[in-house]
Order: sequence, then structure tokens, then C-alpha cells
Amino acid sequence: MLLIFILPAYIANSTPVIFGGGTPMDFGRKAWDRKRCLGDGKTWRGFIAGIAMGTLAGAAIAGLLGNNFYVWLGFLLSFGALAGDAIGSFVKRRLSMTRGSPMFAIDQLPFFFFALAFASPLYLPSIEGIVFLALLSYLLHVVTNFAANRLGLKRVPW
Ligand code: CTP
Ligand code: MG
Repeated sequence: MLLIFILPAYIANSTPVIFGGGTPMDFGRKAWDRKRCLGDGKTWRGFIAGIAMGTLAGAAIAGLLGNNFYVWLGFLLSFGALAGDAIGSFVKRRLSMTRGSPMFAIDQLPFFFFALAFASPLYLPSIEGIVFLALLSYLLHVVTNFAANRLGLKRVPW
């Protein structure tokens, strides 16, 4: 099932909002353009916690379905999601957008497409499935970030 498949990526991507903070992944360094590589919004704690929680979700699914395959799938989806999220921030910084500024598509989609790419050696949905999940991921990202802002978990609603 498509929703079960992508669930670890969603868990991984939302975990840093709660557990993130601390040392930034770029250690405060600037790139060649003298702007931050990734910015303070991408931290090691968020990265590790996201991969851990997403993999745990994969392990839970594996337990329920009696198939260890989902542990590996969960790990790859989570690793891809967090890597894609960081790459999105890298792109934003190169375009001179400060941490937390809203950017259409780059805020919502890299986590999904990188999760998909990292998991693709194990499993890739059909093209229709990918289009459906991309739309769902976009919508869920918008809705959940709005909710996280209202709940006081996130300072901006995107
Ligand atoms: N976060 C984190 N570590 C990560 C990813 C996210 O600590 N690897 C936390 C940060 O507190 C971040 C929050 O989750 O502010 C929301 O993530 P996101 O919206 O992706 O970051 P932004 O702060 O909006 O920064 P950017 O402009 O780089 O997207
Ligand atoms: Mg953001």
C-alpha cells in the first residue's frame, strides 16, 4: 500500500520540528557566495532524530506485516527525506533566501523525491503512484506546517 510505503518518510520529515536544534549541520560555515551553506534550520540532532524515528516507523510496519524488508525501506526513505530537506535548504541559501523564508515547491518536495530516490533500489511505485504521492506530500506538508505553527511548534506556518 502506497500510504504505508511512504509513512516513514513523513515521520522522518516531521520529527526535527520537535527534536531539532543544537549544532547546525554546516557548523555555521559559509559557502563560496559568503552565505550559509545550509543555515541554522538544519541541525545534526534533527537529522539523526528524523532518521531514527523514520527507521523506527519502518520497524513497526515490518513487525505488523511480518516482513523485515520494511526496516530497510524505512531507513532509506528517512535518510533520503532528511538529505533532500537539507539539499532544499542548500538551494534556498544559494538563492539568498534566509532561514525560514517561504519558497514554493522547494519547501515541500525535495524530502519526498529524495526519499523516493534513496528507496528506489528496494522499491519504486508506479508513475501514477509517484504523481499521487507527490501531490499528497505537497498538500500534507502545507497543512501540517500550518498546524505546527498554530500549535506553537514552528515559528512560521510553512
Ligand atoms: N530542523 C532541524 N534539523 C533538520 C531539519 C529541521 O533541527 N535537519 C528543525 C529546525 O528547527 C527547523 C524546523 O525543524 O527550523 C523546520 O524545518 P524547515 O522548515 O525545513 O527549516 P527552516 O527553519 O524553514 O529553514 P529553511 O529555510 O532552511 O528551510
Ligand atoms: Mg521551512
